[in-house]
Amino acid sequence: MKKLLLGLFALATVAIAVRANAQNTREKFNENWLFKLDSANDYSKNAMDAAKWQPVTLPHDWSIGLNFDSTSPSGNEGACLRGGTGLYQKEFTLPSKDKGKNIFIDFDGVYMNSTVWINGHKLGTRPYGYSSFQYDMTPYLKFGGEKNVLKVMAENHQPSSRWYSGSGIYRNVWLEKKGSVYVDNWGTYITTPEVSDAQATVSIQTRIKNSLQQATPIELKTIVYDDKGRIVKVLSQKMSVNAGTEIEKPQSFVLPHPELWSIKTPHLYKAVSQVFVHNKKQDEYTTTFGVRSFHFDVDSGFYLNHKPLKIVGVCMHHDLGALGAAINVRAMQRQLEILKSMGINGIRTSHNPPAPEWLDLCDKMGFIVIDEAFDCWEDGKNKYDYHLYFKQWHKRDLTDQVLRDRNHPSVFMWSIGNEIPEQGGGDKDTVGRRIARDLSSIVKSLDNRPITSALTEFSPKNNIIKSGALDLLGFNYHFRMLPKLAEMFPGQKIILTETTSALQSRGEYLMPSDSIRRWAGFTREKNGGTPDFTCSAYDNSSAPWASTYEETLKPLLKYPFLSGMYMWTGFDYLGEPTPYPYPARSSYFGIVDLAGFPKDAYYLFKSVCTTDTVLHIFPHWNWKPGQKIDVWAYYNNADEVELFLNGKSLGIRKKTGDDLHVQWNNIVFEPGTLKAVSRKDGKIIKTSEIKTAGKAYKLVASADRSTINADGEDLSFVKITVEDKDGNMVPHADNVIDFSLKGDGEIAGLDNGCETDLTSFSNKKWRKAFNGLALAIVKAHHKKGKLTLHISADGLQGTSVDIEMK
Ligand code: GAL
Repeated sequence: MKKLLLGLFALATVAIAVRANAQNTREKFNENWLFKLDSANDYSKNAMDAAKWQPVTLPHDWSIGLNFDSTSPSGNEGACLRGGTGLYQKEFTLPSKDKGKNIFIDFDGVYMNSTVWINGHKLGTRPYGYSSFQYDMTPYLKFGGEKNVLKVMAENHQPSSRWYSGSGIYRNVWLEKKGSVYVDNWGTYITTPEVSDAQATVSIQTRIKNSLQQATPIELKTIVYDDKGRIVKVLSQKMSVNAGTEIEKPQSFVLPHPELWSIKTPHLYKAVSQVFVHNKKQDEYTTTFGVRSFHFDVDSGFYLNHKPLKIVGVCMHHDLGALGAAINVRAMQRQLEILKSMGINGIRTSHNPPAPEWLDLCDKMGFIVIDEAFDCWEDGKNKYDYHLYFKQWHKRDLTDQVLRDRNHPSVFMWSIGNEIPEQGGGDKDTVGRRIARDLSSIVKSLDNRPITSALTEFSPKNNIIKSGALDLLGFNYHFRMLPKLAEMFPGQKIILTETTSALQSRGEYLMPSDSIRRWAGFTREKNGGTPDFTCSAYDNSSAPWASTYEETLKPLLKYPFLSGMYMWTGFDYLGEPTPYPYPARSSYFGIVDLAGFPKDAYYLFKSVCTTDTVLHIFPHWNWKPGQKIDVWAYYNNADEVELFLNGKSLGIRKKTGDDLHVQWNNIVFEPGTLKAVSRKDGKIIKTSEIKTAGKAYKLVASADRSTINADGEDLSFVKITVEDKDGNMVPHADNVIDFSLKGDGEIAGLDNGCETDLTSFSNKKWRKAFNGLALAIVKAHHKKGKLTLHISADGLQGTSVDIEMK
């Protein structure tokens, strides 16, 4: 009887839910969490019980606040920061009016091995720390002021990823409330099978779920908007969805004169899918998409909207420097802006699916993305990496990745794996072939974008190549073999999924500048010194398997069959500080350092890949009298550059052949002014000067944005330069800089781009400058008003910056 009554009650609430227009919401669920940590490598219940709960706001990365620790099991690959086991808890209530709705919790990513419980009921476990997932909490929730308790455990045993992963709920969490009949999670799929300037076919598939106990007649209305918010199409269809099932409905239309998505004009459309039952709206679901076509040609490379385009891309790991792995949209946007400003047009999300917001930004800003799934399959690279879970989870993880990401116009290729050990093994070993085919068929069942994999075995015997599963052969490194690739793999389309691995520390220079070190600063050690844990920022060092920037760019520009490349890496990242041991804890591979300050190579790309006029000379001009120094210049839009030292000409240089820079060797240092002038047809195009700096005298600060949103998330990045009296940056200044903030905000992080600085990122009060620069990241809280960042250092004139929160 009780059961029957409960059943009747359930039907009654369902009927009410259908009668009203459902107020569907998807809101961030990041506030008011509690957290405790056992940072041992294995979870110990006692340690966890003893730990105190701390209040936290998500996204949250517990590892970034720990001390760098040479005994951490993560090793310096994992930035010497510990993982451990973290417990999160959040209490919340739901109003009575939500009863009868379908209520979901979405996790964009938890590193790793997460288990989630609601009110003591286990919702599930997800091992892969880079997957997004959703749980249906509906049957376990309480309403009308009663308390609900959500618990999450994350176990990050190290070593797992070969880079700094971060730990915990490091991406957004969302609470979703839906009506009785609704569009499923990642339930739309929008493609544009035919595209021309005149028209495009837009095809929309919508998966609708009926949670009611009866077949339900519904109307699906899809309203399509252009990026100015104008309605370009309304599609409507009536259908019936059986009780407790889902239905997939195709709709399509011809869009005249589409505004095409491209890297320069990334136009976006929006499809709003509305589900009605008896004319009452039960759900509304928005999908952003783009209209563009592309193809790869065996001989002439990549085409976007029928026009050839060389992809000059970079690989990126997901950490945000001092902010760790905890995602922040402004911090990600800043990284992409800096990369875009030097002409980068492609991103490889190495070696895992990124935060969804990263792809939203790539859509909006115009990048050609390789969305990569895995760094290993069954054969692992680290003790606790994904190989432990691959067999059981790869299908689910890959499916979820493709379903989540397949509407992004910026996603052009799927990579099913990076440097997968199973590619080797020779003829008898069939594992690589089997898995490659399996992964490719999972992707193909969901989407038809090209599939690639980042390969290291340059041989037709490579088992992943032999599997026939790849549409596009992706190769990593071996730059000397690049010209031969077309001959080695006739009839195959080729992309360079990873190249370069050049090594540079911002502001460090090792002479002679044109002798290339394949193992960076170890040269100094060999010569009798001790390694100083820096790499030379002349483009003259790389990992032994790798190449300098210039060495890599030359064949890319020369051979049309190479559709593009993704260089390792755009930014320095936490972990993998090849070639150095502890205290090195972040990488040297970036074109831009960890704090976001460009290294000299940034200007090489800007001069080659943009039309902005560039004349960049380096190194700094503070040396010992009589020391012999090489000076380099990156320039464009000009025929020649003349260099002057204290007014005396040191000669004119012109790029010849495939040169991408010019240089003046063995200039005998004398203090003063080094000045370069670039000319075209005898007319001055640009001048650039470096002066010998005197003693450090003052701090100068500039904020990238002086007005930010008072939304609890927005950031201002403040660059601090140590200067002499006359405004010259002091090249090796390493003063301790103190920071304090007035107003309702916080210092979210301090950095300087130094790969060996062991000051914990939890220290938000002071940081040393590194080679003249430091960075403060200021975050707004929720109140409008003014923030003032005070910046001081012993013996130097201090400064302050005002930031307005709107
Ligand atoms: C590659 C690898 C990257 C990174 C890089 C360093 O082989 O794919 O993850 O380790 O080497 O050079």
